[in-house]
Amino acid sequence: MAAQSIDADSAWQLILAAVNRESVTLPLPGTSQPALTLAGEARWSLHLPATADAQSLFSLFLPLCRPLPNGRSHQVIGQLGQSLDGRIATVTGASKFINGDDGITHLHRLRAVSDAVIVGAGTACEDNPRLTVRRASGPNPVRVVIDPHRRVPDGHHLFTDGQAPTLRLVAGEDTGEHRARLPETGVLELPCLGPEGSRAEPAHIIAILEGLGLRRLFVEGGGLTVSSFMNAGLLNRLHVMVAPMIIGSGRPAFALPEIENLAEAWRPEAQCISLGSDMLFDLDLDRV
Ligand SMILES: NC(=O)c1ccc[n+]([C@@H]2O[C@H](COP(=O)([O-])OP(=O)(O)OC[C@H]3O[C@@H](n4cnc5c(N)ncnc54)[C@H](OP(=O)(O)O)[C@@H]3O)[C@@H](O)[C@H]2O)c1
Repeated sequence: MAAQSIDADSAWQLILAAVNRESVTLPLPGTSQPALTLAGEARWSLHLPATADAQSLFSLFLPLCRPLPNGRSHQVIGQLGQSLDGRIATVTGASKFINGDDGITHLHRLRAVSDAVIVGAGTACEDNPRLTVRRASGPNPVRVVIDPHRRVPDGHHLFTDGQAPTLRLVAGEDTGEHRARLPETGVLELPCLGPEGSRAEPAHIIAILEGLGLRRLFVEGGGLTVSSFMNAGLLNRLHVMVAPMIIGSGRPAFALPEIENLAEAWRPEAQCISLGSDMLFDLDLDRV
């Protein structure tokens, strides 16, 4: 019998099977042959040789899938897809597409291992995204749009396509009344962001989502929203996908407070992986 090995497709099936699993040995999909053992404290080992692509998938995604470490009630991942000069869109907001095919597949995989995907109103307005998982297998996350002024058009996909539930977080005091009503599809509007014109604390947004049972959170964009979670110290990991493209002007990826000394800059532990079309920086913001 030919020796079996783990390719990227099998690795992805194993990763989906690993979500929230603690100590278990998982077989190679379609066989009974042990392939992946998950042990405590985020350790894992392979029983079969794996292709380079499969190894990359394991090292990027297994840390995101494992049971949340002791005492942590949620995990927040951010992503930004940027040009070499750190832009996520042109001045007019055009961002389709900065990243190549492999980068977009990576984005869909991040959605598939998350309970909820969060975008700001700017992204929802300009991109009219669906935020579903289409380029990989896996479940659609709950879609969350932070839309204090209700400026995202009602006809946009998030509110009309029925592919997954959408939470629209708008200005207003949180009465807690709606919490039990996360629909299977359709839109739930939650007034919870405080008075119109004020900025909601990202920690408050996380608490609202946690109250609905959403604990693995993926902040997909745009730059203002990702930066606000990062600046509040609430991102555990950040995936920055860099495309070999120079735009030369446009919307910045990061909007953080000014610093004078480089010692104050973020310099997290990082792994750098070529996705093919894009270079991915996987930043561990718990270890800055
Ligand atoms: N390349 C990529 O990876 C990527 C990913 C996503 C989006 N994009 C691009 O990025 C651009 C949009 O990004 P952006 O940075 O301008 O905007 P954004 O982050 O999508 O949205 C920002 C807006 O969301 C609302 N918001 C976010 N956090 C809030 C909070 N804590 N409290 C209250 N309101 C909050 C506010 O809406 P109000 O303004 O109504 O108060 C805020 O102005 C688009 O051009 C899109 O195409 C690129």
